[in-house]
Amino acid sequence: MNKAGHVNEVLLITGTRKGIGYYLAEYYASLGYKVIGCSRGPADTELPGYRHYCLDVADEAKVKQMFAEIARDYGRIDVLVNNAGIASMNHVLLTPMKTVQNILNTNVIGTFLFCREAGKLMSKRGYGRIINFATVAAPLKLEGEAVYAASKAAVASLTEVLARELAEFGITVNAVGPTPVKTDLIRSVPQAKMEALLNRQAIKRFGEFQDIANVIDFLMKPESDFVTGQVLYLGGV
Ligand SMILES: NC(=O)c1ccc[n+]([C@@H]2O[C@H](COP(=O)([O-])OP(=O)(O)OC[C@H]3O[C@@H](n4cnc5c(N)ncnc54)[C@H](OP(=O)(O)O)[C@@H]3O)[C@@H](O)[C@H]2O)c1
Repeated sequence: MNKAGHVNEVLLITGTRKGIGYYLAEYYASLGYKVIGCSRGPADTELPGYRHYCLDVADEAKVKQMFAEIARDYGRIDVLVNNAGIASMNHVLLTPMKTVQNILNTNVIGTFLFCREAGKLMSKRGYGRIINFATVAAPLKLEGEAVYAASKAAVASLTEVLARELAEFGITVNAVGPTPVKTDLIRSVPQAKMEALLNRQAIKRFGEFQDIANVIDFLMKPESDFVTGQVLYLGGV
C-alpha cells in the first residue's frame, strides 16, 4: 500500500502475444494480478485472470473502445506497461517510408494513446504507474537503427514530460531501457553487430526477461511514489 492507500490490482500490458510482453503477462498473472494484454494477433495460451484484446496499439478507435470496456468491467487500471514495439534494421538511405510510418505508429503513437487513455482512468482514482519502453539503441546511437532509436527517443521524451503533466493526479511515468534481449525483435541482427553492441555495455551480456521485470517491480512498489520522469537503462549504458 502506498501513502495514498492504494494497492496495485489491475495491470495493462501491451504487446503480450510473445517476447518480453508475454513473459510479463505470465509473471504478473502468476503473482495474482488481474492482467489485461493486447497485440495484433490472438494470445496462444490462457493465463489465470488474464484477458486479451486483439488490436493495433495505434488504432485510436479500437484503443478507446478497449478502455471503455476496461472502465466498465474493472473500473481501474493501476499499472500500464507500454511494451508493444517494433524495430527494423535499415541504413537510412535504404529505409522505405512504410517502415518509418509503421515504427512511429506503433512505438510513438501507440505509447501516446495508451498513456492518454490510461491517464484518464487513473486520474479518476488519483493513482497510477505508467512504465514505457525505451532502448539502449538511442543512447548508443546505433547505426542501422536510426528510425527505431528516434522513435524510442520520442518515448523517452514523452515519459519525461508526461511525468510532469500527470504528477498532480498521483500518476508516475517512467521508462525502462533494455539492452538486447533474445526475442524475435533482434533475430535479424547479424552476430558480429550484436557482439559489438554488447561490448559497448558496461556489463557485456544479453538482457534477460527478469532484468526487465525487476525494474517494473521496483517502479510498481509503494515506496517508489517519489520516482518519476526517469529512463532506467540496463547493462550500464
Ligand atoms: N528484445 C530486445 O532486444 C529489446 C531491446 C530494447 C528494447 N526492447 C523493447 O521491448 C519491447 C518488447 O520487445 P520484444 O523484444 O518483446 O519484441 P517482440 O518479441 O517482437 O514482441 C513484440 C510484441 O508487441 C506486439 N506488437 C507489435 N506491434 C504491435 C502493434 N502495432 N499493436 C499491438 N501489439 C503490437 C507483438 O504482437 P503482434 O505481432 O501480435 O502484434 C508482440 O507481442 C519493445 O518495445 C522493444 O522496442 C526490446
